[in-house]
Parts: sequence; structure tokens; C-alpha cells
Amino acid sequence: MTQPCTYVIFGSTGNLSRTKLMPALYHLEAANRLPEGTMILATGRRPWSQEKWVAEVKEMLMAKARNGVDEALFNKFKNRLYYFEGDLNNIDMYTNIQQLIDNNPQFPSNAAFYMSIRPAEFGTVTQYLSNAGLLKEDHGWRRIIIEKPFGYDLDSARALHQSISKHLHEDQVYRIDHYLGKGTVQNVLVFRFANLLLEPLWNRNYIDHIQISHSETLGVDSRAEYYDGAGAMRDMIQSHLLQLLTLVAMEPPVSMESEAMRDEKVKVLKAIRPIPPNAVHAQTYRAQYASGSVNGQKVKGYLEESNVPKDSVTETFAAMKLYIDNWRWAGVPFYLRTGKRLATSQSMISICFKEPPRQFFRTSQIQKIRSNWVLLGIQPSGCLKVEMTVKEPGLEMNTRQTSLDASFREEDEVYTDAYEDLLLDILEGDRSLFLRYDEVEHAWRVVDPVLRAWAMERAYIATYPAGSWGPEESRRLFERENQTWRNSLQLES
Ligand code: BG6
Repeated sequence: MTQPCTYVIFGSTGNLSRTKLMPALYHLEAANRLPEGTMILATGRRPWSQEKWVAEVKEMLMAKARNGVDEALFNKFKNRLYYFEGDLNNIDMYTNIQQLIDNNPQFPSNAAFYMSIRPAEFGTVTQYLSNAGLLKEDHGWRRIIIEKPFGYDLDSARALHQSISKHLHEDQVYRIDHYLGKGTVQNVLVFRFANLLLEPLWNRNYIDHIQISHSETLGVDSRAEYYDGAGAMRDMIQSHLLQLLTLVAMEPPVSMESEAMRDEKVKVLKAIRPIPPNAVHAQTYRAQYASGSVNGQKVKGYLEESNVPKDSVTETFAAMKLYIDNWRWAGVPFYLRTGKRLATSQSMISICFKEPPRQFFRTSQIQKIRSNWVLLGIQPSGCLKVEMTVKEPGLEMNTRQTSLDASFREEDEVYTDAYEDLLLDILEGDRSLFLRYDEVEHAWRVVDPVLRAWAMERAYIATYPAGSWGPEESRRLFERENQTWRNSLQLES
């Protein structure tokens, strides 16, 4: 049976807590998955009363809860809510929390500390938690949850790891990559390992290349302070897209246990061929959105967004080509692409198979044999499609493409948000969907040489109109002239 815990949320009035954490906890309550006695202790600097906090949470839920706010359910949920005024940089807050957990039987002694705060504060908060004795597991477990980005580059990730490891064992640390909590991302594993059909084809002998693409119509919004220092490579590729790549490329783990899974993912990251400085240009591409129009609305360019320096060369579009130097994938290019203010919001994995031998059709009218594609839609629609060539009805030997659709969510099936899964796993102590430190380190190794090269080129960045698919020039990463980015799950003409 899952034990109750005190969920402590640092930064509880911030955006993540409002839009993701509180709604996820409420949905877990609705699903009856929060163990009896679990408390949610929110900390913040504002001098709010308990009533004010409850009213705030209700507002957050009214904006985000799937089926609105149910009064009876909220009355149950609100008994778990507790607001704690305090300053992150003052040890008193931590000693007060420690006394509360130790002396007030209402608060379970198992405790999870969620760092919904600026990455620069992770180290200090861990230090204070430790000084106040909050990380000692004498009377129950103690876990900390760290949001990405874990570090700013390889060196800072190492430094952060060293500083938190002084106070915590690896199994107390839950590094979140919320992509791993998405049901459709987990389905990549089910698709690969619960079906025998494709496994014999899932290698360099049959696969031509793989594309992993995440596009957003949103711009930088109010996040420029963070985003301008990060850029698309750190924000999306170092974490989410490389995680997707590991799931597509990993060997079957010996079990679905967290360590077995993570061992296999790390092997993939280790096998990625490092990009030497003189190949950065050939294997990567970056750009920034200019003004344009998205869904019929005129939108500003990145440089006109608030809090963006006028001379910023931060990339809002990044693409790269990677090779995995192992037996299964030798020679197969993996293309990763992400961008803000693109034409649509979607994430998909597209697997392009090699072309069949042409001799068979040499004497017929068929000029062009198309490749088979396997398309995994991650969002907005979770789906799986396989594209094949079939003969057109009629007397002529003409062919066309058809798409077999194995979409996996029915209209009436419940959609759950990634954070619901992840917050529950933390309670249950299941770390399979969280990143082990060596995964983070090896992911930084992949992108670090690119970030270093880009950091030297501060004079110019290509632009693309908002609402487009990014610059055409990014196609130069492909190995063949006739190849390009796959932008849709629909059959292409
Ligand atoms: C976050 C990035 O980690 O992921 C954001 O910081 C990005 O910039 C977001 O928009 C995308 O997540 P999702 O779940 O909306 O695809």
C-alpha cells in the first residue's frame, strides 16, 4: 500500500504549480490515488492566509481541471492544503517546516520536496533542507524532485550534481523530464516491446532514417528571462527530444524495472557519436522567429518580445543530425528538430524505411516506389500509423499510398496529464520515468560541443517567419536531396 506523505512545493504560486502541479494533485484525488493523510504544503513569500491559499488553488483548478471543480471533491482536497509563508533563502523556513513535520501528527513524516523554482536555487535549497535535518530518512523517506534544466551545460550539471550529492543519495533524487510522463511516450516502449511484428525490422538493415520533431505555435510568452539564456537546444533537445530518441533506439531492457530501463537508455546516449567542432555546421542548424502570423493572427518576432535583448541570437528553432554508433543503428541518421512559433503544435516520431528493390517493377509503369513510414504521433493526438504502397483499382498498374491507422485512444477514454503519472510515481517510489544522473550527463555531452560552437558565433542568426515550418535551409542536414522534414501524420502527396 502506498504510504501517505507531505508534499512540499517550493514555488507554489508560480506558473508550473498553477498550471500543472495543483491540477495534477486534484486529478489524483479524483481518481482516489492520493493516500489517506497525504498533505500538500505550499510555500511562498506572499503573506497569505490559509483561506486565501485555498481560494487561490480553487481558481487554479477552475482554469485547468479537466471536468471543472466538483464541490464535494474540492472539500475533501482542500483539507490537504496548507500554506506556509517563508523565504527560500532563510534557514528559518526550513527549520519551521522540520518542526511541523516532526511535531504535528497531521503531517506524514515521509516527505517529497518539489523544486518548482529557478534552477539556480536548486543547490541552495538542498543545502538548507539538509542543514535543517529534513533530508534524513530516520522516520520515513525523503525525496526531492528537480525540474529541468539540470544545469546549464556539462560543467554546471556536474557541479550541481556534486553539490546535491553531498546531502542526498541518488535514489532520493527524482529528476523530472515531463515527456516521460506522457502516455503516448510510454507507448513507444509498448509499441516496440509488446509487438513482435516490427522488431526484426527495427535496425540499420531496414530503416533509412528517423525524425523526431516537436513544434509549437506558441512563442516565448512571459518566459524570456529563462528562455533567452537557454534557447531551443537546451530547452527541448537536451532533455525531451534526446529522451524520445533513447526510447526509440534502446535495446529491450531485461525488465521494466527502473534501473534496467535506465541502463539501456544510457547506453544509447553513450553510443551517440560526438559532434566534432568542425562538423557542427554540417550537423546542426539554428534560427530565430521573426514576426509573422500564426493561425491568422499577427505575432511579434522574438526580438520584439518583452525581456528579450534587442541583439539576442538565442535560437528558437534548432535541428541536428545524430548517429548512434552501435550494432543496431550504425549509419542510420536521426534528425531532431524543434521550434517555437511554427505552423502547428505537434510532436511526432517518423520512421522512414528503406526503399524496396526496384527491379521487380522495372517493366511496369511504376516510376517511383515510395518508402514505408511508421509514424508515432505523441501529441496532440496519440496515434500510430503505418504507410504502405498498394495497387490502385483499375486496369493500369498504378500504385498509391495508404495509411494503416492503429490510433490508441478512443474518444471516451480518459486523458491524463504527464504530471499526474509522475507525481504518483514519486509517492510510490518508482523512478523508471525519472532521469538518473548519468543520463543527464551524457545528454549534455551530446549537445555541449554544439552549444560551445554557437556561443562563439554571436554576430548572426538566421530567421524564419512566425507561423512557417522554419527555414528551408535546415533541409541541408538530410543526406539526400529528395529528403525533407515530415510535418504531418497525414499521407503526403
Ligand atoms: C518545456 C519547455 O519543458 O516543454 C517549454 O521548457 C516547452 O519551452 C514545453 O514549451 C513543451 O512541453 P509540452 O508538454 O507542451 O509539449
